[in-house]
Amino acid sequence: MKLLSELSKEDNLPDRILVAVAWPYANGSIHIGHVAGTYLPADIFARYHRKKGNDVLMVSGSDAHGTPVTLTAEAKKITPEEVYSKYQAEFLDCWERLGITFDLFTSTHTDTHTAVTQDMFTRLFENGYVYEQTMVQPYSEVDKRFLPDRYVEGTCPHCGFDSARGDQCDKCGRTLDAKELTNIRSRISGDTPIFKETNHYFLKLSAFEDKLKEWIEGKIATGKWRPNVVNFTRGFLEGGLHDRPITRDIEWGVPVPMPGYEKKRIYVWFEAVIGYLSASIQWANDRGEPERWKEWWQDPDARAYYFMGKDNITFHTVLWPGMLMGYGGLNLPHDVPANEYLNLDGIKFTKSRNWAVWLSEYLDRFEPDPLRYVVASIMPETSDSDFTWKEYLRRNNDELVATYGNLVHRVLTISYRNFDQSVPEPGELDAECKTLLNEARTRFDEVGTSIEACHFRNGLSAAMSLAQSANRFLDARAPWKAVKTDRQNAADTLWTALTVINCLKTAMYPYLPFSSEKIHAMLSRSGSVQDVGWSWEPDELKPGEPLQEPKPLFTKLDEEIIAEEAARLAAR
Ligand code: MF3
Ligand code: ZN
Repeated sequence: MKLLSELSKEDNLPDRILVAVAWPYANGSIHIGHVAGTYLPADIFARYHRKKGNDVLMVSGSDAHGTPVTLTAEAKKITPEEVYSKYQAEFLDCWERLGITFDLFTSTHTDTHTAVTQDMFTRLFENGYVYEQTMVQPYSEVDKRFLPDRYVEGTCPHCGFDSARGDQCDKCGRTLDAKELTNIRSRISGDTPIFKETNHYFLKLSAFEDKLKEWIEGKIATGKWRPNVVNFTRGFLEGGLHDRPITRDIEWGVPVPMPGYEKKRIYVWFEAVIGYLSASIQWANDRGEPERWKEWWQDPDARAYYFMGKDNITFHTVLWPGMLMGYGGLNLPHDVPANEYLNLDGIKFTKSRNWAVWLSEYLDRFEPDPLRYVVASIMPETSDSDFTWKEYLRRNNDELVATYGNLVHRVLTISYRNFDQSVPEPGELDAECKTLLNEARTRFDEVGTSIEACHFRNGLSAAMSLAQSANRFLDARAPWKAVKTDRQNAADTLWTALTVINCLKTAMYPYLPFSSEKIHAMLSRSGSVQDVGWSWEPDELKPGEPLQEPKPLFTKLDEEIIAEEAARLAAR
């Protein structure tokens, strides 16, 4: 008997890939730090696998509940619904414009999510992994209410940061209990809270300690998990796994399916991670194929990849796997390729101080592909990295315009003008042409294996190396001169270069989908690049096939934008 996994390899059945993308809090705009950390890598990965013919399900949504949203609502004197609806609409618009291709981007404020969350809660309760207990929580006599999570601030016991929140420290990333904070104060009134008794349900994480450790060590042993993910997870497990309260004294969120809890809600992190599952179910329901989510969640051969920034790691490598173990029958994460942070001019992006390049504002002023390019080039895969407008301009002008764009433009223009607006007919190719075609094959494969391993920077630089080699090849053979002196030589050069451009169109597609579609159209191909599959054959371009009038792929930017953008940041 063959294993299912062997069979599928042999029959070339598609792999099933769940691309699970961290859910942005619906209380603020997306900035390019989020793009670098989470959304772009997920989209590159999803586009690649779809193109390869694999069955991709890419889901996420707005994280609509919890104290981040209620605090924003209180500050703006509007309802939490209004806060979440505003950002939900903004997120959807941003994904469309940046080309982030979710199969479903929903929110945690849906009936399906409520039902799936309550089912998870109830099942864990029935399995003995959720229990009720009395505990103390910060309570303000001035505000006349409990102050869960972000409603209090204080000094982090681990790193000394003086505005750590009740549930997590923004500086060192550790999860906290409000009791650990010193100099604790209310975010509403500044009042020093007392600690008062309240009943809550707890998740018995301690019950999974051994199983989780074993699972994580197994993952680490594959050597494929990133070092930062391994370190954060090991660090979290070192202190031993403690049971955690999963309900809160708050009235915005998923209701607790237990009597006496009408004025409490499920903790936002407990329910948000369930979003990956509820969104998959929602997607299947929306398609009228309500069982299909199971292909990604119940088939052990399916692989789930979770994309996020480093502050989210342990929720996905410990909490969520623990919940899945307690529930039973659902796939655990295959990989958690979390990123470090992208900084802006060496300083961390911060919403509160408005130190950010907001995605929607970027997209109002510039094209999507240059951002995708620059951000993928400096993606913080192994350490924090830095975005500056100077570097953005340099990479746009020197790399996209001068290298890739120039290659495409000159090859298409010379062919179009001198060979009857069509693909020139090559003769017997010489060694130089063959060498470039061989390099294209090697680089193309390198892009694919890099993306599969979630080494996105490496994949992009492999594709760019090919563009550079093609430019050197052109410079050496000067087909613009050869058309007058040795027409066959010019035809060989141009056909070879066009073929390499056709290769780059696919290789670059996960990174630069908009410009790849432009190349596809200029080569008179019908449909979308997406339909071509992850393949490239040198004989795809047939001599005599028509070319469309070439238009530049990218636009050179003026040095002035550096000062303009600096002024924009300073003005905030
Ligand atoms: N909203 C959280 C954040 O912005 C991320 C939640 S990821 C999820 O940090 F999986 F829990 F949804
Ligand atoms: Zn800290």
